Amino acid sequence: MDEDAGSIQRMIDCGAGAIVTKSIGMQPREGYANPTILELEFGLLNAMGLPNPGIDQYGNEMKQLQKSKTPIIGSIYAADTQEFVMLASKMKQYGAAGVELNVSCPHAKQYGLEVGCDIALLQTIVSSIKQKVRIPVFVKLSPNVVNIVEIAQAAEKGKADAIVAINTIKGMKIDLETTHPILANKTGGYSGKAIKPIGVRCVYDIAQSVNIPVIGVGGITTGEDAIEYFMAGASAIQIGSAVYYRGPDVFKQVCKEINDWMDTHGYKKITEFIGAAYQ
Ligand code: DHB
Repeated sequence: MDEDAGSIQRMIDCGAGAIVTKSIGMQPREGYANPTILELEFGLLNAMGLPNPGIDQYGNEMKQLQKSKTPIIGSIYAADTQEFVMLASKMKQYGAAGVELNVSCPHAKQYGLEVGCDIALLQTIVSSIKQKVRIPVFVKLSPNVVNIVEIAQAAEKGKADAIVAINTIKGMKIDLETTHPILANKTGGYSGKAIKPIGVRCVYDIAQSVNIPVIGVGGITTGEDAIEYFMAGASAIQIGSAVYYRGPDVFKQVCKEINDWMDTHGYKKITEFIGAAYQ
């Protein structure tokens, strides 16, 4: 999803308020062999291997979306500061409304947690992008860390515009008959309803510790899930796995469910209950 103009346009037509692309890097990447995704009892487990056409080719996808009024946030991954700056600059050139740094892929060697766990490196990456490219920078963090708050604070020190929490949680599924992990990569990122309490806790902790907006993501499937993230301190939310569970009409459905809940509870604006859990 969101790796090509066609699927992005479809999500826009279905009512998504903004789009985050699948993560794009410097070079084309095929990704891992199948199986790359499993539906488990309580969520999805995936290890795609960051498949993407590379930033140069991605310009062709973005070109097809130029007339769209829906903001498109370019998700990017890289191994070092220079690459991140280059990717952000290209995304700006392509008309992206912002970039989201994927420093939290649970398994891609060099590109994921190695960057997202190194506080000094993360701050340098964010500040270098902010100094060289005029574009909003969101930093997507992993819950697979000891202290997510200090990583969020490092991103804020680098002048990040927002924190996105959370990325997937590292997991594994073993086939009892073959005795082996099912995913070709063995481990993958776990998403869906099961991870919502983890995401809510991370947003709750981060939102009280930084002065930039937090975008909540992780298991949001219904309007009430979204409201829980708002109460934890999120200013906006993202939906991923629920597109699989409820179909692409999920965006409209979640908006309606939020509206209905607000009507029955006497709220006029979402800002009335953002951070309500700790106020
Ligand atoms: C992949 C990337 C992610 O950021 C994630 O959370 C899970 C999987 C991937 O492309 O493999």
